[in-house]
Amino acid sequence: MIFIFTTKKMELQYLGQSTFLVQWNGAKLLIDPMIKGNPLASKFHNLNIKPDYLLLSHGHQDHVADVEQIALNSDVTIISNYEIVSYYGSKGIKGHPMNHGGKWKFNFGTIKMVNAVHSSVLPDGTYAGNPVGFVLYDQSTSIYFAGDTALTLDMKLIPLMCPKLDAAILPIGDNFTMGYEDAIIASDFIECNKIIGCHFDTFELIKIDHSKVKEAFHSKDKTLILPEIGEIIEI
Ligand code: NI
Ligand code: MN
Repeated sequence: MIFIFTTKKMELQYLGQSTFLVQWNGAKLLIDPMIKGNPLASKFHNLNIKPDYLLLSHGHQDHVADVEQIALNSDVTIISNYEIVSYYGSKGIKGHPMNHGGKWKFNFGTIKMVNAVHSSVLPDGTYAGNPVGFVLYDQSTSIYFAGDTALTLDMKLIPLMCPKLDAAILPIGDNFTMGYEDAIIASDFIECNKIIGCHFDTFELIKIDHSKVKEAFHSKDKTLILPEIGEIIEI
């Protein structure tokens, strides 16, 4: 008799804007935390997350708002570019610095830092280096978190450098990042038809029409998940 186990490999919980809590191989990774500053995430304002790692794509407020408060309550390590890790290092928060094109095998899996086309500065005006995206992978799972970015040809390098993606988290809200039309092209570039949208609806300038956007993906035989805040996605 053959038993087929479909065990989940990674759990992603959407916490609004670009914030995701990733549980993977026994580690808790929190990406781009802005929960308390997001009125849409009010149900989660008292959430006491004690992540092992904070992944920061760039220095903008809507991606780092909760960093210092989370670090006060947990023994967290920041994974980001050299400039952002140095900035929080000077505030006593430990970190693992990386830069574009580099990868590192952590005890939970590998992270490769990839390009993003955007800008980056910390809320107090400190230079934050260049914005990044992350690919997280191990022998069975591979996901791409694009951060804030425009559509860029560099995305075509991801399938050449990393294992086949199971899913990709792409910004979809337009105005500050790519919008859904470009995200559909990005999905071709990265050779991944399962897209999880983020960076939408938080403020007026990035509000989207959910059914129109989902239908546009569907018409290209692609799946777009627009997660509810708090929703858990298993990969
Ligand atoms: Ni940004
Ligand atoms: Mn942003």
